[in-house]
Parts: sequence; structure tokens; C-alpha cells
Amino acid sequence: MDIGIDQIGFYTPNKFVDMVDLANARNQDPNKFLIGIGQDRMAVADKTQDAVSMGINATAEYLDQVDLEQLGLLIFATESGIDQSKSASLFVKEALNLPARIRTFEIKEACFALTASLQVARDYVRAHPHHSAMIIGSDIARYGLATAGEVTQGAGAISMLIKENPAIIALEEGHTSHSENINDFWRPNNLATAVVDGHYSRDVYLDFFKSTFKPFLAEKQLQVSDFAGICYHLPYTKMGYKAHKIAIEGQDDETVKRLSDNFQLSAKYSRQVGNIYTASLYMSVLSLLENGDLEAGDRIGFFSYGSGAMAEFFSGKVVAGYQKRLRPALHARMLKERIRLGVGQYEDIFTEGLEALPENVEFTSDANHGTWYLAGQEGYVRQYKQK
Ligand code: CAA
Repeated sequence: MDIGIDQIGFYTPNKFVDMVDLANARNQDPNKFLIGIGQDRMAVADKTQDAVSMGINATAEYLDQVDLEQLGLLIFATESGIDQSKSASLFVKEALNLPARIRTFEIKEACFALTASLQVARDYVRAHPHHSAMIIGSDIARYGLATAGEVTQGAGAISMLIKENPAIIALEEGHTSHSENINDFWRPNNLATAVVDGHYSRDVYLDFFKSTFKPFLAEKQLQVSDFAGICYHLPYTKMGYKAHKIAIEGQDDETVKRLSDNFQLSAKYSRQVGNIYTASLYMSVLSLLENGDLEAGDRIGFFSYGSGAMAEFFSGKVVAGYQKRLRPALHARMLKERIRLGVGQYEDIFTEGLEALPENVEFTSDANHGTWYLAGQEGYVRQYKQK
């Protein structure tokens, strides 16, 4: 029985900073950001969008096509959690009127968490063949104003439906994992921005890629040339490009060209949105599917990395007719119709985002895509409303 991705919803807020504007404001050569880091724009979440509202918006995109009778599991993956105890998924469940009988919880291991959700969901469907699972990754990447990590911020969410006989990607059996307790990137409870050892994190990401990719090929008796494309966790696109260069080392021209072209297509959304932590790998997969030209049966590799650190490599095959399940025009419009912020405006929004939410102050949303937003807080309870 094939199990895999049957729906993919995508949401990113309606504001962005252009990397040339940011480079100029920080006295950097724009090419460092555009080429050295590989980012063109970064999405900015104002106070009306948090991990929950973005997750609701990504899920609402395909909800009308879900058979709620079959839905049995809802997992929310985030490192931008809004509560130490209560799962963000409960707000999603209420907003979208999902059945009370579903099992639901939040899950964490940095950017690996949506992959953890995917594997749990796959096992759930294997054990309950006629049931489906919804998994959401949603994050706001915050490093701090004028820090080295600032250029690798972003905001957005991916939501996926996992079920048998999926319409988009059928996951293949097998995976290779690698974990170590290290301190490359983390966010202690008392901080609103991440602590990061940037160059160390970059090196560890590549070490973990080496520890999972070649062992995966050996275990599955596959060649690099058996992949139509490999998608990477993209904290910034140059990071994935470094892993891509390791993957194509010593390969024939045709394989190098195919994997390189598909790498660029997988990085297209990330160049516009930035790092969305848990959902970054899956935004790359969506970008490749919506902007590329894959054929039924094409194999895609998935490299998932979460700081701290945990990595996994696995694969899936594109399902015939997958294009009919995608919404490239909607996503192109969502990215195109965003508001370009001046660096000063972005700094004000960023600073406001670090502050505790005020009590009993009603927020209004100026978003044109995604109708759900954070409307404020009453008695420490976040209020989500629909425009
Ligand atoms: N033109 C073109 N390229 C230029 C340039 C110019 N004028 N100036 C510099 N560059 C290049 C550099 O040569 C370098 O390229 P290589 O990496 O290929 O050598 C690149 O731009 C970056 O330069 P630096 O390393 O000097 O940049 P930096 O010190 O400002 O830090 C960073 C870069 C480490 C990525 C930093 O932005 C950061 O800490 N980001 C957050 C951490 C992160 O994303 N880590 C990734 C792995 S961890 C992970 O994946 C989990 C997660 O989501 C966080």
C-alpha cells in the first residue's frame, strides 16, 4: 500500500524585506546576501500572524478537499510555539472545525520536527489504513536586528495531508538517520531570538548530510543518478547548495545537470520567503513540484536537518497526475502581492514581535491572502479571527 503526501498547503505573510535594501542598511555588499547567502527577499510576520494563524491559513487552503470522516491525527510541528503546555494544534482544530475525536499534539526537534510528524503520520496510516493524518509545520525565524543570522530569517507554514494512495508523493520504504547532542542553534525559554553558532551549524549540517546520504544509497542500493531531484532543508539556499555540490561530486553530466536544475527550482520559494524552520524542506519540495517538470515515478530525495541535532534522508516517488493537486498560480500571487517594507518599518515590526502581547487590544489585519489572523489576547488566551 502506498502512503504519502496527498495535499500540500502553503502560507507566508503579506510583507517582505528586499535583500538589497537590507544589505544597504547593514553596509554589506548586496552580492553577499544575493549570491553568498542566496536569498532575494525574506518574509516578515507582523503581530497579526503567529505560528498558529499561519498554520491555520496553510491548512485552510485544501481543507474543503479533506474527508473529515477519515481524519484521525493532527500534528503541529514548530519552534515558534505560543505556549509551554498547550498544543498549537488545538487552536487549529477549533478554528477549522476538525472532529473532536482526533488525536492531536505538538512536536519539537528544531527544523526536523515536520519530518518527525511525517514519519509518525506515515506509521499511523500504516496501522490505520483508511485513516488520514494532517501535519503542519509553521515558524517565524528570528535571529535579531543587524546580526549575522538576520539575512536568514523568514516566516511561513506548510500543511500536508498524509494518506494511503496519495495524489502527490508516495513515500518509499526506508530512511537513514543521524543524531548527536550538540549546540549549533537553539532558543532557550527566556529568549525570543535564536542563539546560533553560524559557521559551526553550517559545518554540522554538511557532516550530517554525509552521515545520512551515502548510507541511504548503500542501504537502498541506489545510485545518485536514480534521483530526479534532491530537496534539502533550506535555512538559506546557499546551505542546501553546499550539500547539493557534495551529492553531485563525480556524477555524469546528465545527472549533474538534472539535479542542479531541479535544485534551483526547489530553491525558488525559499529565495523569496527565507527560513521557515520546520517547513523549509517541504517548501523546497513544493517549489520543485510547482515550478519543475517532473514525471510520474520520478524519485525525489528528502534531506531533513534539525539543529541540536537530528538529520534524516528518505525518498518518495511522484504520483501520476500530481499537477492537478497543486496550486502554483495561487502561490505565485501570494508571493507577488506582498508589501515591500522599508528596513525601518521591518525593524519596528521585528521589535514589536519580541514584546509580550498586550491584553485586550484588538489587532486588525491588512492581509489579502489567508483569512485567519491573530486578533489579540484576552486573559493570556490568544484570539484567532477570520477576516
Ligand atoms: N559576493 C558574493 N559572495 C560573498 C560576498 C560577496 N560580496 N561576501 C561574502 N560572500 C560569501 C562568502 O564567501 C560565504 O560563502 P561560502 O559560505 O560559500 O564560503 C557567504 O557569502 C557567507 O559569508 P560568511 O560566512 O562570511 O557570512 P556570515 O559570517 O555573515 O554568516 C551564516 C553566514 C553563518 C549563514 C549566518 O547568516 C548565520 O548564522 N545564519 C543562521 C544559522 C544557519 O542558518 N545555519 C545553517 C545550518 S543550521 C540549520 O540548518 C538549522 C536552521 O534552520 C537554523
